[in-house]
Amino acid sequence: MIQKTEPAKKLAGTLVMPPDKSISHRSALFAAISSHTSVIENYSTAADPQSTLSCLRQLGVPVHTEDQRVEITGVGRDGFKIPDAPLDCGNSGTTMRLLSGILAGAGIECELIGDESLSARTMKRIIDPLQQMGCAIEGREQKFAPLKIGRHTGVKPMRYPLPIASAQLKSCVLLAGLFGDEPTEVVETVPSRDHTERLLDLKTEPFGTGKIIQSSRNDLLPAQNYQIPGDFSAAAFWLVAGSIHPEAELELNRVGMNPSRTGAYHILEEMGANFTQTNSAFAGKEPVADIHIKPAQLNPIELDPKLIPNCIDELPVLMVAMCFADGKSVISGAEELRHKETDRLSAMAEILNTAGAEIELQEDGMIIYGDPEFTPRPSRFNSYHDHRMAMAAAVLSTRSVGMCEIEGAECTSISYPQFWTHLHELTQS
Ligand code: S3P
Repeated sequence: MIQKTEPAKKLAGTLVMPPDKSISHRSALFAAISSHTSVIENYSTAADPQSTLSCLRQLGVPVHTEDQRVEITGVGRDGFKIPDAPLDCGNSGTTMRLLSGILAGAGIECELIGDESLSARTMKRIIDPLQQMGCAIEGREQKFAPLKIGRHTGVKPMRYPLPIASAQLKSCVLLAGLFGDEPTEVVETVPSRDHTERLLDLKTEPFGTGKIIQSSRNDLLPAQNYQIPGDFSAAAFWLVAGSIHPEAELELNRVGMNPSRTGAYHILEEMGANFTQTNSAFAGKEPVADIHIKPAQLNPIELDPKLIPNCIDELPVLMVAMCFADGKSVISGAEELRHKETDRLSAMAEILNTAGAEIELQEDGMIIYGDPEFTPRPSRFNSYHDHRMAMAAAVLSTRSVGMCEIEGAECTSISYPQFWTHLHELTQS
């Protein structure tokens, strides 16, 4: 689908953010391996978290959905049924990597497959540590899906220093560790999102400048009632849109404010953004707040590479913000962007170049020469079927003087099915 976007005269209104994708996946997976019935309120209707639910059903887990309320009758750590067809993770890296940790730990004979994008993303990062733990897992060419998982003779204890700051990798290893009699320890020096250790209440201790997280069969998996907060990564598109548009006034309700996710909020504030937070509360174990956004003159910024994992999904739209800052911004240490649903560094470079921005693409980042008067050229943008590319291009196009077109725009359904409706509402109200 090609989405046409008219230049926005203004952006005004209040939005409730879609449910958090990362927390939706985890709540369903953790509920499935508990031996109790859990209720999840406000589960995401987006394609990725729905892939997790359909895989769980294939594994014999009773999953009942009523709108966004999901009831899962956990089968316990050892209760999965061997599926009679491959488990289709769709476009979802989180489904594939976290579910592999659980199924490899449990030793369930099965195959995990994904769409073209997911089948081209490296799984070596999870295959290696899972094999070291004694799990039976193999990939095509030792690094890609389809992944084949088999039975094993026991999960061996391991201390694993994370070679990449990845929450998916961290979670995969810790979830496999839940099946070991002796603890699995993961050493994290650069922090990434902490939903897994937070929701499972895993033992976490400071270790050097980082932390060490432990999991084992002794970790209890009690019944939990989950309330999924609004997705901060979805909110980030509006944080930027409301900052760069001179006629903007936006309010976002119930946004997840977990500090391991909100790097982009602080980066934008440091650039001069005008945000106010109200109604701070908790949705289960996760903090939430309402955010009020007004336009601001943005300053350029040089990002600390250590902050990259804290804003990894928000970097594309931060690049858009940097195009409107008054001077040179630098992103480095962001090579991981090349391993997402598409190579997001190259895709964003193409989108920004098409719009006429002045940028230099680097191996691990980008230099952006911003200008507050920058007017994106009316253009046709290629989303590369990556939801975050499509939404970043849409935010960019709100400042154009003519009509823009976004190819493959339906891919926003991966994380934010209401995105185009929300954009329309904000420009019309
Ligand atoms: C996610 C972690 C991140 C992020 C992805 C969701 C998660 O990936 O990009 O959208 O839910 O754990 P990495 O951990 O591979 O960086």
